[in-house]
Amino acid sequence: MNEKNATRYQQRILAHYEQHQQSDRPTLILGIETSCDETSASVIKDGRVILSNIIASQADIHKRFGGVVPEVASRRHVENITLTIEESLQEAGVTLDDISAIAVTYGPGLVGALLVGVAAAKAISYARGIPLIGVHHIAGHIYANRLVTEMEFPLISLVVSGGHTELVYMDQHGSFEILGETRDDAAGEAYDKVARALSLPYPGGPHIDRLAHEGTPNVPLPRVWLEPDSYDFSFSGLKSAVLNTLHNAEQRGERIEPANLAASFQASVVEVLVEKTIRAAKAKQARQILLAGGVAANKGLREALTARCEQEGLTLIIPPLSLCTDNAAMIAAAGYISYQQGRFASLDLNGVPGLSLTEPF
Ligand code: KG4
Ligand code: ZN
Repeated sequence: MNEKNATRYQQRILAHYEQHQQSDRPTLILGIETSCDETSASVIKDGRVILSNIIASQADIHKRFGGVVPEVASRRHVENITLTIEESLQEAGVTLDDISAIAVTYGPGLVGALLVGVAAAKAISYARGIPLIGVHHIAGHIYANRLVTEMEFPLISLVVSGGHTELVYMDQHGSFEILGETRDDAAGEAYDKVARALSLPYPGGPHIDRLAHEGTPNVPLPRVWLEPDSYDFSFSGLKSAVLNTLHNAEQRGERIEPANLAASFQASVVEVLVEKTIRAAKAKQARQILLAGGVAANKGLREALTARCEQEGLTLIIPPLSLCTDNAAMIAAAGYISYQQGRFASLDLNGVPGLSLTEPF
């Protein structure tokens, strides 16, 4: 775009922002999420009220490949994006004229998948002069909690998804400090790999979770604590221990009950996640603990963290299952904070697969 058009765009965005700020209409954010295998669009009101949250999942397509195929994901996003956005506006009972800003995930994620959402958001922003906001996917997962309860700072968020495992400290809106993170596999990734070894369908997390509740955790597996003061995680050793256990049993002609193995694996993952979260919350005198990410849907983790927080007198917030896995409402909720601060992206916004959470969003 030439300089003249860029300046004209900036002026239109500013005028739009001022007009919306001065009116007594509610702030409506259109959220767009395409970082992995869900095409999602949502409209939320005043940062916390969901008017619509449309999710077109591709899980069924990727299932037969045992994981997300990036090229297939991008193509599907292209096919679904326009309809998903239209549906989200329709269900919310609004038009683009009512939208205060468009918030889109620009990283981390699959670059081809991210680009579809970013291109759609930029096209609408340019055509209609609506402010554009770039959102970090993990910030979105954390802000899913704000659709449930108002955040109180300082807080600790345990982020556990297919690509991330992080303990995040926040002392104000939009500010993220990573206290610890996984040194190898993400928690969800470990779940999916163990599920695959047990011949369970993709994504395997929910299947292991279900099996775990039918079994007894009687298979000895390690707990990886790392250095005593570390908030980091490591799950690849545990995953290997599960695979070795299966392999050794097979060689001896023995059968391990899959439900017991699932229960033992889950017990190991959950114990480490819960204890490190509690330790961080106490050390940082957190007023809240927020659970975030796809693995936050895990029943064993929810139960164990709830019990430990009660024991310690800590306040725990957990989003409903529908807001734990990827969705655009959480992206809009995070984008609302940037909107309030008047921080907008330019039309140079691009998909950034390795985007860092500590960059301001
Ligand atoms: O947050 P998400 O939807 O996508 C990423 O941003 O990665 O998380 C997907 C991950 C998958 O690894 C999936 O197996 C896992 O979340 N997951 C679960 C459960 N539900 C989803 N893992 C364990 N237990 C569950 N109930
Ligand atoms: Zn996610």
